[in-house]
Amino acid sequence: MEYYVLTLFPEMIEQGMNTSIIGRAIEEDILHLKAVNIRDYTNSRHGKTDDYPYGGGAGMVMQAQPIYDAYRSVADGLSYRPRVIHLTPQGRVFDQEMARELALEKGLVFLCGHYEGIDERVLDEIVTDNVSIGDFVLTGGELPAMCMMDAIARMIPGVLHNEESAEDDSFGDGLLEFPQYSRPECWNGIHVPPILLSGDHAKVDAWRREQSLIRTAQRRPDLLEKAAISPKEREFVKNYLANRDEQ
Ligand code: ADE
Repeated sequence: MEYYVLTLFPEMIEQGMNTSIIGRAIEEDILHLKAVNIRDYTNSRHGKTDDYPYGGGAGMVMQAQPIYDAYRSVADGLSYRPRVIHLTPQGRVFDQEMARELALEKGLVFLCGHYEGIDERVLDEIVTDNVSIGDFVLTGGELPAMCMMDAIARMIPGVLHNEESAEDDSFGDGLLEFPQYSRPECWNGIHVPPILLSGDHAKVDAWRREQSLIRTAQRRPDLLEKAAISPKEREFVKNYLANRDEQ
């Protein structure tokens, strides 16, 4: 997977992506990351990349020319037409399903805006996907791009090693992950659920599944509708919620 990030703050991307699992995947050549400084492509003698908005109003607008040329510097070197993701609160909200789908691409270009926005003409010309990471407004697209690249990278074979397997993740089957415990058996007077010490794998699996169902019902009931759960499990959740409401 090749990631190209068009940004005014390439060092933010490089520093943010160079540690831990993603940093290791880059080192192992499973991931390639290039942060392209939009400022390097401006025709302005003063290195300007933004200007006042036509029609007036507060803030500055990122100009079309440097962004388009930065994009061309990437796209012209590729044998395929990459999807270009514009990070914006006006986009479709990113989720695990989108991460899984984007992980199938050969490469992705992320366009990070700043200031009040980007000249609409260059967006019309190059953007294939407008994506938001949630209903709140950030100062720029760099953090959203990094969130997306991290979530997508985890779906690419080889990025997670065995011990970090994505199988049991929250959202794997549309449910939240079960609670985890580690040593010691008793901490602060609180014991680990005894079933986890039983050595009975079938029972542990059943308990974890139940905990996933309960946790999802408690914290994100909106996810249950689309979750991959059996009719029996649906019944279990219904009973759980009914009994809880009675208490
Ligand atoms: N840029 C600013 N806010 C954003 C958000 N919530 N998602 C994606 N890009 C953004």
